[in-house]
Amino acid sequence: MVVSSAFLSSLLLAPCLAIAQSSTTASPASSTTAFASQFTLPASVDEGAPLLPTVNDPTAPDAQVKCPGYSASSVRTSSSGLTARLTLAGTACNVFGTDVQDLDLRVEYQTNSRLHINIRPSHVTAQNESWYLLSTEYVPAPSQESGQTTTSDLTFSWANTPGSGFGFNVTRNSTGEVLFSTSGTKLVFENQFIELVTHQEENYNLYGLGEVIHGLRLGNNLTRTIYAADVGDPIDYNLYGSHPFYLQTRYFEVGDDNSTTLVTEQLDPSNATGNYTSSTHGVYFRNAHGMEVLMRPTNVTWRTLGGSIDLYFFSGPTQPDVTHQYLDVIGMPALQSYWGFGFHQCRWGYQNWSVTEDVVNNYERFGIPLEVIWNDIDYMNQYRDFDNDPIRFNYSAGTAFLQRLHDRGQHYIPIIDSAIYVPSPDNASDAYQTFNDGNETGSFLLNPDGSLYIGAVWPGFTVFPDWLTTAAHAWWKNEMVTWHQKLPFDGAWIDMNEVSSFCVGSCGSGNLSLNPVHPPFALPGEPGNVIYDYPEGFNLTNATEAASASSASQSQAEATVTASSTTASVLTSSSSTSYLRTTPTPSQRNVNHPPYVINNVQGDLAVHAVSPNATHHNGILEYDVHNIWGHQILQATYAALLAAIPGKRPFIIGRSTFPSSGTLAGHWGGDNSAKFYYMYFSIPQALSFSLFGIPMFGVDTCGFNGNSDEELCNRWMQLSALFPFYRNHNTLSANPQEAYVWSSVIDATKAAMNVRFQLLPYLYTLFYNAHTQGDTVMRALAWEFPNDPSLADADRQFVLGPSILVTPVLTQGATTVDGVFPGLVEGTDVYYDWYNQTPVSVPSTKNTTIAAPLGHLPVYIRGGAVLATQQMAMTTRAARNTSWSLIVAPGVDGTASGSLYLDDGESLAPNATKIVTFAAEMGSLNVTVHGNYTGLDLPLANITIMGVPRAPPDNLVRINGQPVANSTYNATSMTLFIGGLEPVLGGKIWSANWSLS
Ligand code: GLC
Repeated sequence: MVVSSAFLSSLLLAPCLAIAQSSTTASPASSTTAFASQFTLPASVDEGAPLLPTVNDPTAPDAQVKCPGYSASSVRTSSSGLTARLTLAGTACNVFGTDVQDLDLRVEYQTNSRLHINIRPSHVTAQNESWYLLSTEYVPAPSQESGQTTTSDLTFSWANTPGSGFGFNVTRNSTGEVLFSTSGTKLVFENQFIELVTHQEENYNLYGLGEVIHGLRLGNNLTRTIYAADVGDPIDYNLYGSHPFYLQTRYFEVGDDNSTTLVTEQLDPSNATGNYTSSTHGVYFRNAHGMEVLMRPTNVTWRTLGGSIDLYFFSGPTQPDVTHQYLDVIGMPALQSYWGFGFHQCRWGYQNWSVTEDVVNNYERFGIPLEVIWNDIDYMNQYRDFDNDPIRFNYSAGTAFLQRLHDRGQHYIPIIDSAIYVPSPDNASDAYQTFNDGNETGSFLLNPDGSLYIGAVWPGFTVFPDWLTTAAHAWWKNEMVTWHQKLPFDGAWIDMNEVSSFCVGSCGSGNLSLNPVHPPFALPGEPGNVIYDYPEGFNLTNATEAASASSASQSQAEATVTASSTTASVLTSSSSTSYLRTTPTPSQRNVNHPPYVINNVQGDLAVHAVSPNATHHNGILEYDVHNIWGHQILQATYAALLAAIPGKRPFIIGRSTFPSSGTLAGHWGGDNSAKFYYMYFSIPQALSFSLFGIPMFGVDTCGFNGNSDEELCNRWMQLSALFPFYRNHNTLSANPQEAYVWSSVIDATKAAMNVRFQLLPYLYTLFYNAHTQGDTVMRALAWEFPNDPSLADADRQFVLGPSILVTPVLTQGATTVDGVFPGLVEGTDVYYDWYNQTPVSVPSTKNTTIAAPLGHLPVYIRGGAVLATQQMAMTTRAARNTSWSLIVAPGVDGTASGSLYLDDGESLAPNATKIVTFAAEMGSLNVTVHGNYTGLDLPLANITIMGVPRAPPDNLVRINGQPVANSTYNATSMTLFIGGLEPVLGGKIWSANWSLS
């Protein structure tokens, strides 16, 4: 819906909706820069039509009952695939759109492990009459590898079945499993609704289909709506990113005669006692429309609001295989700069440069490493992108501050929002060059009538870049470069890119003279939005403070009720229990209110987002490309940062993502809350993003919304230290939660950072392997131990790479944590405690209780690993100058191996690299060096060998045949420690191959 100016004016003038003359500077909690009084937009500007999601609508038609299905004809098979015509097999049903009469089916065996199926309308008709195909310009869609014939492990088969028509199966030849089957169900293909029903076995194991706050295993009673939304991490709803990809694992019990039986019940560690195998495959539905995946006990149904059926099947048969195969299609994750793995501190509410620098200094004062300091929208001149506040964040003081940071090896990242302020035409001093430049080059989204589409975000009324134009990309790059010349920041934090807008439709059209306007809701800390929320158990550990917070919250609630009683009654009278239901109009689309209503967390598609009828310069409607807006700003930002900081890997953290975004950026988990359960959800969210090819993931550590507390922040600063992206971030006006705020958190943070810093070379190597071959970094236990069905839903522990098992405390008040050491009881794996290096003794049950007092993060090395480590320092630059250590942790067979990737840590195309491989068996370690990068060729300090049954005889520990004097054996931990090695190898550990015996 486009809000007309008359409509908006009437809202603004309505006596019931207070037009608060507020200046955001008036609020003590606020740090914004507005110096003029502002109109507060009424809340009603962000209200949409009352809609009932079709999945919850008992009166909605069932397309499987009403529709005729399709019938396949003109089937042509070739060695590389098949084409056919699909024709509507009866009278059009037009349930949620207009049925498409004829479809083209194209099946391609693209590689041995990848099959592509595309179904699209046969006749191209006018855009608004039928369908939209996602261009490969925006999202990759690789085609057949040349020369590919019928050697594929996947087989496509089809049939026209009486009653349901065309259906197909995808089968994996090597295992004979049917991976995907629509047989006996009807294909529905309308201009605004596509449905594909697939059969599933009992208790199937599906993962992915994000972005969602949910356990890792999705279960069989969930509707996964995929529609990019700006919303604070609700559980089970659509969220910022759109990832229509799933991974499916089947477990089989292996009988004595080697026969296999599908496991259809969920097993826990106590009853998963048989002999098992598993197989895994993947499915990617390449489509950027609003979408729904209905997971139900016996089937999985895909529904989209348009586009084509563009399905990729990956045969696996293991999770690493599927991930490699999927990332071959969407692109490998970007290799991050080494400094990106340092610790990041952020918050909304650092009001000026000196407050920001105080935070940096406090970290130093307390001896806590800090790599990157971030600023939120506080730094902006009235919330305008590419424009610093001239007083509080002026360029000359900022440049000097950034110089001090850079001199110390620290970095600076500012937020960049997605929307661009439109200045008030009535006020010459409101002029904004960034807007003018973009407007003159036709870089912004339009209304259907060709005028600018004007929504509202932080600065007031705003426009939104049209990423389908080349002009917008050029303009964005120019803005970035120009701004970078004023302030040499190091990366970009891209926010609000779903793309968010705080009003329904083009609410700014005709209203620009009101600019700047205050958002239609109270910012955190403003009256009516004061934060009294605390983590679970706060009242137990902080009784006095909890009592006063609770009484303050109570009195605020009472005051709010009194003050808003008039408004409330008016809102009640205007709200309605009758829902808007639209019916299909032949050959026309209703993009703002499609007949099929997805279960969007915001309801109406235009609520808190740019409206579906916003129009791109090439005529494409936002309806058809909504889910890729967030990806495209990442593409534009990547190019812009490369122009601003030539030759260096762009560092970008973005909120809304799509398949392929990992090639450009990392992602943070969005607006979580300071609750223990959100700390838990960070693990399944991270593991899902491993599957989506976005390994650079982390969440707002200690919690974004609400006040954190000492216990939660202690646990969370430790847990996040083992995530790839490690950032503490907090909302405006919440209590401070930097790591130095509580003394126990200082100690806990340093303890966990000590682990992180030692593992940085390992983490960096994992990213190299992700970047070059599509490996995952954070891994689910199920992926590393694929033959244990009891791990199918394990998401309270994870493995960093193959070798580091993390078992965090995720509940309030706990001093122990239950976890598993996969393979330990079975005798296939051994583990070593990170801190005391002792082998973990074999427990009597698989699920084990581990001591984990506050401040202790249980971390274990899985046997079989050789790890090259460096030491903790105040920055990664300093850490990269510390001497090396090696940890050898043998597996049950006494061997261990590993690798290490080295380069300058920041060049997009490093001119020298080095890969070191380690191979150890009982009695020896061989180190092999390939490549010519010399930058980290520092001394070897020591070697720790774990699990050594007895002390070696004197003088028998040798490097390259030369005895090394300084070795000590600890019989309790069974560790051999070889120290004092700095002089050996000429003080340069990686200059040539060497061996230890
Ligand atoms: C959004 C972001 C959050 C940021 C805030 C203010 O809510 O998700 O991280 O602090 O906007 O910019």
